[in-house]
Amino acid sequence: MHAKFPLFLLLLPFNLLLLILCHQTLADDASAMHELASSISSASLKWSTSSDPCTWSHVQCFGGRVTAIQIGNMGVSGFLPASLNSLTELTRLEVMGNRINGSLPDISALSKLQYLFLHNNSFTSIPQNFFTGFNSLVYVSIGNNPLYWSLGEDLKSASNLVNFAASDCGLQGQIPDFFGTSFPSLELLELSFNNLTGGIPQSFGDSTMKFLLLNSQKGGKLTGRIDVITNMTSIQQLWLHSNLFSGPLPDFSELVNLVDLDLRDNQVTGPVPDSLTKLTSLKSVVLTNNLLQGPVPVFSPNVKLDLDVTLERFCRTDEGDCDAKVNILLSIAKSFGYPKIFAENWRGNNACSRWLGITCDYAGNIVVINFSRFGLNGMISPDFGSLTSLQKLLLSNNSLTGTIPTTLTNLKNLRELDVSYNSLHGKIPSFDENVIVITTGNPDIGKDRPENADGTKKSSSSIALIVSFSLGAILILLALVFYYCKKIKVTESSGVDNWLNRMRHSNNDSPKAKKDNISLSSVSSNAVLLGDNTNKCSTKSNTDGLSFCEPTNLVIPFEILRHVTENFSEENILGRGGFGTVYKGELHDGTKMAVKRMKCGAIGSDGFIEFKSEISVLTRVRHRNLVSLLGYCLNEKEKILVYEYMPQGTLTEHLFEWKKEGLEPLTWKQRLCIGLDVARGVEYLHRLAQQSFIHRDLKPSNILLGDDMRAKVSDFGLVKRAPDGQYSVETRLAGTFGYLAPEYAATGRVTTKADVYSFGVILMELITGRRALESNQSGESFHLVTWFRRKYYTSNVEFKSAIDPYIDQEEETLSSVSTVAELACYCCAREAHQRPDMGHVVNVISSQAEAWKPVDEDLEESYGVEFNLTLPEALRQWQESDISLTSDASQLSGISSGR
Ligand SMILES: *[C@@H]1O[C@H](CO)[C@@H](O)[C@H](O)[C@H]1NC(C)=O
Ligand SMILES: *[C@@H]1O[C@H](CO)[C@@H](O)[C@H](O)[C@H]1NC(C)=O
Ligand SMILES: *[C@@H]1O[C@H](CO)[C@@H](O)[C@H](O)[C@H]1NC(C)=O
Ligand SMILES: *[C@@H]1O[C@H](CO)[C@@H](O)[C@H](O)[C@H]1NC(C)=O
Ligand SMILES: *[C@@H]1O[C@H](CO)[C@@H](O)[C@H](O)[C@H]1NC(C)=O
Ligand SMILES: *[C@@H]1O[C@H](CO)[C@@H](O)[C@H](O)[C@H]1NC(C)=O
Repeated sequence: MHAKFPLFLLLLPFNLLLLILCHQTLADDASAMHELASSISSASLKWSTSSDPCTWSHVQCFGGRVTAIQIGNMGVSGFLPASLNSLTELTRLEVMGNRINGSLPDISALSKLQYLFLHNNSFTSIPQNFFTGFNSLVYVSIGNNPLYWSLGEDLKSASNLVNFAASDCGLQGQIPDFFGTSFPSLELLELSFNNLTGGIPQSFGDSTMKFLLLNSQKGGKLTGRIDVITNMTSIQQLWLHSNLFSGPLPDFSELVNLVDLDLRDNQVTGPVPDSLTKLTSLKSVVLTNNLLQGPVPVFSPNVKLDLDVTLERFCRTDEGDCDAKVNILLSIAKSFGYPKIFAENWRGNNACSRWLGITCDYAGNIVVINFSRFGLNGMISPDFGSLTSLQKLLLSNNSLTGTIPTTLTNLKNLRELDVSYNSLHGKIPSFDENVIVITTGNPDIGKDRPENADGTKKSSSSIALIVSFSLGAILILLALVFYYCKKIKVTESSGVDNWLNRMRHSNNDSPKAKKDNISLSSVSSNAVLLGDNTNKCSTKSNTDGLSFCEPTNLVIPFEILRHVTENFSEENILGRGGFGTVYKGELHDGTKMAVKRMKCGAIGSDGFIEFKSEISVLTRVRHRNLVSLLGYCLNEKEKILVYEYMPQGTLTEHLFEWKKEGLEPLTWKQRLCIGLDVARGVEYLHRLAQQSFIHRDLKPSNILLGDDMRAKVSDFGLVKRAPDGQYSVETRLAGTFGYLAPEYAATGRVTTKADVYSFGVILMELITGRRALESNQSGESFHLVTWFRRKYYTSNVEFKSAIDPYIDQEEETLSSVSTVAELACYCCAREAHQRPDMGHVVNVISSQAEAWKPVDEDLEESYGVEFNLTLPEALRQWQESDISLTSDASQLSGISSGR
């Protein structure tokens, strides 16, 4: 080259500068290439620094300038030198699949670069604004490098971009919005295995991308809804798996080129739309491990489908339609945007099986929907109007927009609608006057369209306006409440009469039913308002009228309870317990009831609402071996439960205190019957419909006896609804020491097996006539279970000595006692899983009752027709009789008296 130099000097002066520059760049290219050659090393590259780089292998030149370096997959190590930036004619830089490390150099002067293949190397850093000036860039591949960077505006200059592949190269932050709009030719965007967060930008809907791979982000992952793909009509391959995308699948009907969809391992909710299953272009669909709802989708057999239906929230595990109620609830969830909270907590095809926010009655009708504080967005679905049995709809404290649908006025059973603290607007539909409608905290309610939707800072005058507005609203509300409660007072007479009728009806088997009804006037004149010394819960002035606002027809006015218990007189006390005092109540017609008045503070204010909802469930529990809860009166001050009256009192009296009470000792036959009754009652609680109840406080003082000495389990005050078998509810330690299962006492976690333990203790008491905990003469504390087990396992003689001496020890009796004793030990096993379930217990005891002849005649008799029904049969009958909250008293009492 040097030899040619003087020749250039002879050329015309005006060309001189240009030519010097030209020579300069040629010289620069050469020195840049030499520098490159010395910074990398490779066994297969034979680049000789003494020759023209344009003669080197894997290097192309045009007009003496280097235009391509293609040294991919050649075992190259080393680094890329900064002088590469002078190869301004370079169109291809391919160094992929090597072991090149260090920083990527600044090569922003390479404005003609079209192909930049850097992937599969060990680059550790990338300059800021690396892509600035790459106006010609078409294909970029930079994946599989240990970088740490984020995509910036610099890439926007590469407006001809077709492929941008940057998987697993330490990308941080969000996907920039410009991919959709700045690259009209973009076909492939591959950003998998990075550390990207945020959502798919809205502009992607405008893009012409065919291949979008955003799967498997590390760290925070990609989030948000995937609605935007609905507009990506060119897409063929869409890999979004292993992220945290949520919300429903959008409409796929325009994605007619989609071949390969992978959404595995996200949190996509809602049903699989027909627009996807019907897409004829599809070849492969992967949906496993989301929160998909609705029916199991059916794809064409040509589609390779990866979908584990058991990992989703489909209504069924096979093809077929969802239950009608499930469909309605799904369409309700749809207008909230299929939020995760429902997808996670609504499983299966039975909306009454403990679905979050849904309460059913025992006929399987939805009666309460409580989505209060669920963080819901979106609108109130008009489909709420299809849940005809609905009594309460509580949607307060969400971010709901739109209007209150007029379909809600179709709900004939609706008593309460609470939509307070949302962002609703529009007219409040006209509900029946007995529906409580709460709309506070919706600034735009009543207005045609929402104002202040953007939530900009309010001026002080508008705050003043709002304050005065809400003051006005409060005044109007107060006036309404006043009017409402007054109105109720006026119509009280019919309420009292109804209730009295109901009481009378449910006790119409009472032999001495007299006809002298309590008239309203007598009730009212007796109804001295609260505030005297019988009520120590509160000294506040009476607001008791509000308790009439309670929208359930088993509510009993306080005045009536006060009347029937003769002002809660001492003479009428049937018993006292930790939770309060039980009074005998009697109507003029002789109808008796047990009135349990809870102690002040027996239930904290926190527990009150929970207690209330539980009570409303338990008022519908009907079983011949459970004491029926006939009604209740609950308000801030008084918590009173009214049970059916059991004339023979508690098992405690008959088992332990019979001498003192002047009673006869129980025969073995009676004890066996009582055991069977209790077992059946508890079995029923445990397997009640789809739900399970745990009694938690089984003991003889909670077992009540009728005149026929048949037993019923009472005191549901502590009953907690429990999840299925293997789960347990953590609960405040209740129950009574001596009957507590060890794991319950130790951890406070309770399963149905804790009841089985307590039941075992009761069997031991029935056998021995001893209390679960008793002090003997020497004052030594004495644990029945330990003692009984020792006696039972030591020897026959020892065991016989443990049996209550008042049980006739005939041979037949002894073998029956022995079988029951074995069962008792089994029930009191230390490990919960070793204990039988109540179904087994019932089988064992009833086989004894049958085998042991003297029992069975009146056993059958007093049970009447229902005796031979299995539990599922009984449930079915029960459901067919269609009890619901709304059913009238005659239906209820019809059930409680055994149909
Ligand atoms: C690059 O790799 C070589 C070995 O191939 C090593 O000696 C050198 O330290 C590495 N440089 C950097 C910056 O990691
Ligand atoms: C990167 O290298 C790995 C093996 O090191 C190979 O499996 C992969 O196919 C390469 N990727 C590309 C895009 O060449
Ligand atoms: C991912 O990003 C977060 C912050 O956004 C950071 O703390 C974390 O170290 C990153 N992880 C990786 C593997 O880069
Ligand atoms: C799809 O495109 C239409 C028309 O541009 C637009 O109105 C709509 O909002 C887009 N949908 C989504 C989900 O981005
Ligand atoms: C409704 O649910 C909320 C939050 O889950 C709870 O605080 C409230 O007590 C419930 N209301 C009723 C009436 O059950
Ligand atoms: C709803 O929000 C209001 C105002 O923030 C609050 O006073 C009320 O207690 C909340 N109600 C529930 C049920 O969370």
